[in-house]
Amino acid sequence: MSTSPAKHFLTLLDLTREELDGLLDLADRLKFERGTHEKPLAGKTVAIVLEKASTRTRLSFEVGAHELGAMPTTLIAQHTQMGRGEPLTDTAKMFSRFVHAVVYRTHGHEKVVELASAATIPIINGLSDSVHPCQLLADLMTIREHRGAIDGERVAWIGDGNNMAHSYLYAAARYAIDLRLACPDGYDPDPAIVARARELGANVTLTRDPNEAAAGATVVTTDVFTSMGQEDEAATRLEAFSGFQVDDQLMARADEDAVFLHCLPAHRGEEVSASVLEGNASRVFDQAENRLHAQKALLVTLLC
Ligand code: CP
Ligand code: NVA
Repeated sequence: MSTSPAKHFLTLLDLTREELDGLLDLADRLKFERGTHEKPLAGKTVAIVLEKASTRTRLSFEVGAHELGAMPTTLIAQHTQMGRGEPLTDTAKMFSRFVHAVVYRTHGHEKVVELASAATIPIINGLSDSVHPCQLLADLMTIREHRGAIDGERVAWIGDGNNMAHSYLYAAARYAIDLRLACPDGYDPDPAIVARARELGANVTLTRDPNEAAAGATVVTTDVFTSMGQEDEAATRLEAFSGFQVDDQLMARADEDAVFLHCLPAHRGEEVSASVLEGNASRVFDQAENRLHAQKALLVTLLC
């Protein structure tokens, strides 16, 4: 059981620019040395607690913890006492006596904050309705890998002003990204998150026009129109997001060497055409693989 204050990772802003750069360097090294690197987490246990579906996040932390020498254990929250109303603060105190870190995927962001408030071990936000910081580590790693650098990139976000859009806003607060978000009326990012990012120096443009956002972009990215928990709104959203598909025509507006990213899962024919998702500009499977390396680097950063 740890008694010292733990370092949590609830949003990208929990890491400084220097820490992020170091983490991305480590992720690159762990990728290069996969199968041969040291096991700095030997003897530790990482819990992954899921209140929503997950493929990549679960896999990246399970495989990542294992490759670093730790034991992962995944709890489907509905099958635990959390699903029967055990207070999050009690849960946090109990987890702190069993495991060395918790990855928590939930709905309201306040739940991750509450868990962290009573935990003496690092709490990692594995996606909340507000942000998806673990995904951004992989996205930043992929941008560096395929574009050479993050500073100076022009990133076009097309679609919902959701947890991923918010995470790009925080990324723009840490890196010199020219971030242009095209969102339909009623689906803008949270103004408080836009304001916070701008306060921290983010260069952000909001528009209703996907063509304007994509013009000259070096990275074009999007996400589902309907996030987990919003299933009842799917039909309304499909209508509202008409014209916001990343297709070949939109990609043609971007820089000729632009890359396409998507956190996945993707819905072909909705937010992205099959031709873009599977086309030459797409780096989505490198991006998905980079979840593993980035999450390993995060665990080492928080636990070593
Ligand atoms: N991108 C992402 O977080 O994927 P999962 O929902 O499969 O974890
Ligand atoms: N915005 C999506 C991301 C899934 C990885 C969601 O929250 O469902």
